[in-house]
Amino acid sequence: MVKLSPSILSANFANLQKDLDETKGTGLELLHIDVMDGIFVPNISFAFKVISDIRDKNDYFFDTHLMIEEPIRYIEDFKKAGSDRITVHYEACKDLRGTLAAIKKAGIEVGLTSKPETDPKELLEYFDQIDLILVMSVRPGFGGQKFKEETKETMALYREYIDKNNLDIKIQVDGGIKTDNVREVLDLGVDEIVSGSDIFGKDIKEQINLYHEIFKEYE
Ligand code: DX5
Ligand code: ZN
Repeated sequence: MVKLSPSILSANFANLQKDLDETKGTGLELLHIDVMDGIFVPNISFAFKVISDIRDKNDYFFDTHLMIEEPIRYIEDFKKAGSDRITVHYEACKDLRGTLAAIKKAGIEVGLTSKPETDPKELLEYFDQIDLILVMSVRPGFGGQKFKEETKETMALYREYIDKNNLDIKIQVDGGIKTDNVREVLDLGVDEIVSGSDIFGKDIKEQINLYHEIFKEYE
């Protein structure tokens, strides 16, 4: 069953809970939380305080995407704030094995991702340590960018590798996904869809329901 993970990066932070209330009653399970440090990516978003403030009122699986340098420094803090999964960038970690192990040790799910220009094959040697591989289909840092068609090759590569080796790893796609093009990535066998501006920039409830309708075609 494909799952949707709406990215709150495109929500209205002046009244974040109002937007989150719009997601209720849709059968949604995941929430995508983008953390940016202005160093790993040229944008700054938010961190612990926002996450812990929305934790109690929103009973979702907090899917946390860290676009920060050396995330190993903050694993415990994100866990404490309420993250249920932490996805880190391949390029951001000097000790990637140690970082993935620290997430596991914190008792939460482990995700790994890379920038679109990184050779996806370089990540395969870490597949013994992860629960999720995230394919970035835009340059990390901003919502509302155009989907990079060439990243479909990466999704296909990971799908084939996971199936061939019988691994229990989910594939997530993040960036430029809309109800218009989501079928193109679902056809490649991805398990989780991140979408920001196409949800929080529109009628939130209507868009989530629309995505769920499309996912039913893949059951
Ligand atoms: C980009 C973030 C995405 C972003 C997606 O760096 O990782 O999660 O919010 O936004 P859209 O769906 O608008 O491309
Ligand atoms: Zn993201």
